[in-house]
Amino acid sequence: MGVCASTFADVLTKIVDVEGWLSKEQARCLYNRAVALPQGSQVVEIGSFRGRSLIVLACAAPEDAQLVAIDPHAGNDRGPKEIRSNQKLGDADNRVFKANLDRAGVAHRVTHIRKMSTEASGDVNGDINLLYIDGAHRYRTARNDIVRYGNRVVTNGTMLVHDAFSSIGVTGALLTSTFTSRRWLYQGRCGSLAQYRRQPVRGSAALTNVFQQTLQLGWFLRNIFIKTALTLKLYPLTRIFGHTTRDWPY
Ligand SMILES: C[S@@+](CC[C@H](N)C(=O)[O-])C[C@H]1O[C@@H](n2cnc3c(N)ncnc32)[C@H](O)[C@@H]1O
Repeated sequence: MGVCASTFADVLTKIVDVEGWLSKEQARCLYNRAVALPQGSQVVEIGSFRGRSLIVLACAAPEDAQLVAIDPHAGNDRGPKEIRSNQKLGDADNRVFKANLDRAGVAHRVTHIRKMSTEASGDVNGDINLLYIDGAHRYRTARNDIVRYGNRVVTNGTMLVHDAFSSIGVTGALLTSTFTSRRWLYQGRCGSLAQYRRQPVRGSAALTNVFQQTLQLGWFLRNIFIKTALTLKLYPLTRIFGHTTRDWPY
């Protein structure tokens, strides 16, 4: 059980007003992973925005866990179609992020590294037990996050990747890193939140691993279709795939 809330329902009340794209089901997945961590674990989040996912992790992780949040708050790659930097938006995110963490009672537990993940790896000390990746979704950055930070995850540790099989960049990064990897076992996904365990993957397990991830490409194509239809404002077309809102699929 985590430090600042007794149940997942309590954690949900803490994030209800915190902006972000993490669904309730995905929050539960983060909670379940963090609550099961051993004492003394290190949790690293790449891409914190206004603190929604970080509050879940900080509430659920063991009391003595280290929590590191890497986010430049430069106003770039905040959400759909927000690629370019915008310092005003970034500074606003930073202010709201701090206020949200304070209100949730977890600010004292978190070390925020206000840098791009590509420049922040030297600021993270030691091994990682739980890595959550939700930073810039372009291929190069996403791949760098998966490979460079993923390499520091301990055996039997977990890597969670948001926008997997939903964003083109993130899916491309997974295709060239985890698909045929001998050390990341795909464990399934909650919407676009994919879960991997660090462990040796050999023999028939390696084939199953490729197969299981390849199967998700059907869902990826569905999501690309929905995003294209939403961009072209062809809303009725999204219903073909049961998508009834104007939000991007996560
Ligand atoms: C989709 S939001 C993260 C949402 C957050 N996990 C939540 O649950 O609300 C993406 C975040 O990644 C950050 N970001 C953009 N480029 C980054 C980079 N190179 N390294 C780390 N974070 C980055 C943005 O500032 C933004 O806050």
